[in-house]
Amino acid sequence: MSKKPITAIIVGAGHRGILYASYALHYPDQLKIVGVADLNPHKRAKAAEMFGFGEDMCFETAEELAARPKLADAIINGTMDHQHVQTSIPLLERGYDMLLEKPLAVNEEEMWQLVEAARKHNSKVMICHVLRYSPFYADIRRRILDGEIGDIISIQCNEYVSYHHMIMAYVRGKWSNTKISHSSMLLAKSCHDMDLMMWLNSETKPVRLASYGNNFQFTPEKSPENAGTRCLLDCPIEPDCPYSAKKHYLDKELWGVYVWDNLEHLGELTPEKKIESLKTDNPYGRCVWKCDNDVVDHQSVVIEFENGATGTLNMIGGAAKANRTVHIVGTRGEIEGDMLANRVIVRKFNLRPGEDYYSEDVFYPSDESDVGGKFLGHGGGDGRLVEDFIKYLTGEETSISCTSLEDSIYGHLAVYKADESREKGQAVELTLR
Ligand SMILES: NC(=O)c1ccc[n+]([C@@H]2O[C@H](COP(=O)([O-])OP(=O)(O)OC[C@H]3O[C@@H](n4cnc5c(N)ncnc54)[C@H](O)[C@@H]3O)[C@@H](O)[C@H]2O)c1
Repeated sequence: MSKKPITAIIVGAGHRGILYASYALHYPDQLKIVGVADLNPHKRAKAAEMFGFGEDMCFETAEELAARPKLADAIINGTMDHQHVQTSIPLLERGYDMLLEKPLAVNEEEMWQLVEAARKHNSKVMICHVLRYSPFYADIRRRILDGEIGDIISIQCNEYVSYHHMIMAYVRGKWSNTKISHSSMLLAKSCHDMDLMMWLNSETKPVRLASYGNNFQFTPEKSPENAGTRCLLDCPIEPDCPYSAKKHYLDKELWGVYVWDNLEHLGELTPEKKIESLKTDNPYGRCVWKCDNDVVDHQSVVIEFENGATGTLNMIGGAAKANRTVHIVGTRGEIEGDMLANRVIVRKFNLRPGEDYYSEDVFYPSDESDVGGKFLGHGGGDGRLVEDFIKYLTGEETSISCTSLEDSIYGHLAVYKADESREKGQAVELTLR
């Protein structure tokens, strides 16, 4: 590590921006946060207090910051999906390197604009594909690199999105309407999984794909008879409804960070204020069958790679239990993984007479790094990602998980093309610029 810490400015001091930046509080010798740009004055003040810088280093927007001479080594960009490109380009032009949240852009055209800007300015941009840093996926990647299962024939990835996450984010919440978020559900939720598939099979590249999906569950037509418009206001079936805002956000206190966001103006949040908010203008108080959601709740993608391998990705919203599973079959064996169980099974051919025709070893990948211990999130992935970003900037050797902008192109392109295929109802080709 370098003697002097890398200096960084947070652009978009929301949940994610602050989370990555807080690495500096654990490792001040590696990272120092010296400023913030955010539209919200509460967030600017909170960041200034948290990291100890003055008002002169608080800016309202990325654009205002970019208009000033370069004030730090890097930017931590935690703005919302559709703001990534517009906020990043002026800052790359100003000479900053950047840690940028996924998705790197909300459509292919904007992705190429960002890639071209980074190429032109020789910027070091790393995308926050935190799952690459989980011990589970890093372990699987290492086994593939070590040749344990030979060449990949088929790779199957499944993401099960829990019913409570589904309705919070993709029915009532920030990623439910593409006109507001500009992200499809596949892009917002499973661009990680698509990235993982491309990364695990990086020997080759995707060439064509087909995708299907729809909103099966949360439409007005599926609304039970008598359902109201707001759970706490006018709904006679609320006591029996599995999606009741009262049960999810008051009784079980799920997803408070999103549900009660932007209510700072109400001061201390008492139960009475929360009830009033859910009854009136809080989007998380709405009936799940009467929202303005236009994203799918499940989608499948089938991919063909240049070397003939194939892959499938299933994103299924509404599962009882959230999980990710992966099954990779190679020419010399197979790997089956269950992320929630943190279990990786490696099976190999066994031709020894008198024994079963395959051998099976079970592993439970563990995180032994200091970073994971001190800075949890995504199974320690968030902390290791920031650690790797610092190494990337200082020129030290990065981990196998390091996701440079260039390395993130195929995963994003495959997501944009999957949505195009789903909308057109036909297979589409992938081509690079
Ligand atoms: N890597 C992951 O696993 C993961 C998980 C969750 C969210 N995300 C992604 O992280 C990103 C941020 O999500 P979040 O929930 O933290 O969002 P957020 O709404 O909490 O934060 C975004 C912040 O950006 C600020 N902002 C908007 N326009 C700006 C501008 N022009 N200049 C400066 N600041 C501006 C907003 O005021 C807000 O504070 C999203 O793209 C999301 O998809 C990634």
